Amino acid sequence: MTAQALIDTAQALVAGDKGLLAMDESNATCHKRFAKLGIPQTESARRDWRELIVTAPGLGACISGAILFDETIRQRTSAGASFVSVLSGAGIIPGIKVDTGAKPLAGHPGETVTEGLDGLRERLAEYAVMGARFAKWRGVITTGAGLPSRACIEVNAHALARYAALCQEAGLVPVVEPEVLMEGDHSLARCAEITEETLHAVFVQLRLQGVLLEGMLLKPNMVLPGQECPKQESVEEVADATVSCLRRTVPAAVPGIAFLSGGQSAQLASARLNAMNARAGSRLPWALAFSYSRAVQQPALDAWKGDAANVAVAQQALVHRARCNQAARRGVYDVLADAPKPG
Ligand code: 13P
Repeated sequence: MTAQALIDTAQALVAGDKGLLAMDESNATCHKRFAKLGIPQTESARRDWRELIVTAPGLGACISGAILFDETIRQRTSAGASFVSVLSGAGIIPGIKVDTGAKPLAGHPGETVTEGLDGLRERLAEYAVMGARFAKWRGVITTGAGLPSRACIEVNAHALARYAALCQEAGLVPVVEPEVLMEGDHSLARCAEITEETLHAVFVQLRLQGVLLEGMLLKPNMVLPGQECPKQESVEEVADATVSCLRRTVPAAVPGIAFLSGGQSAQLASARLNAMNARAGSRLPWALAFSYSRAVQQPALDAWKGDAANVAVAQQALVHRARCNQAARRGVYDVLADAPKPG
């Protein structure tokens, strides 16, 4: 695998106005979302849901890559086609989540370190054979009284860089995801400070460990006030704070930044990305794209409710959100036209 192949894949994932779709929820996370809607928490319901997503008509016109979970990359549609082949046929590049989850960090109550490095070289080789061309790893940074600790930022940055180097060795583009969580009552300024510290630590480690910046993508949080913070800044203030934080920390060699949604509403996730691109897009060195899970999937999951009769309407809801974010990449998302309808 040449460096050029990594660069080509990274660029293809953020080319034009498309973005990534994260559909890599662990079974536990998937079940939590199913339980709220009374959907059975079974392997076959998970397969049905993922089939609905990968076969949604028109998805390939707005989605460049889809991040799968270990179970999903091995599954097939009811017609017998592998999900990987269905995605590839729609022009969507298959990717895979390769971390094994955030586990309590010893000696640091309330904080986590993401695991999954043991045996990763072998797992990456297997996923590459199955058709994956990129991979994702999420490190989690929690904000709170005295948090995050320096230790939490450093161990997660170190693991992200070890994973990224292994991915590139295997010919997979790493999507490096350090997430500063929205939970808490912290201010936007505090989120900016922590996100800046975290991204700085991540890029120090990426450089130290020899990761090719041109052959990777960054998947960060936006700079937001905590969910319980009484002061909630405007869409424009969030956009400007996020862009300014990224300018300070992300080298121009990185081809693209694809945000996670982190629990924002679907409309806000679109509106904030839109404002970044409308206000600064043409003056930035990297593409600003999306790699949302909840902000693209949730309205569709609400429409599906586990009922085969709702598949078509759920697929329309899914593609609608993907199209809204595609418009946000161009800075032409119409917030008012997309307002949630009463009832
Ligand atoms: P959300 O967009 O729901 O935050 O999910 C993105 C993701 O991939 C989490 O790891």
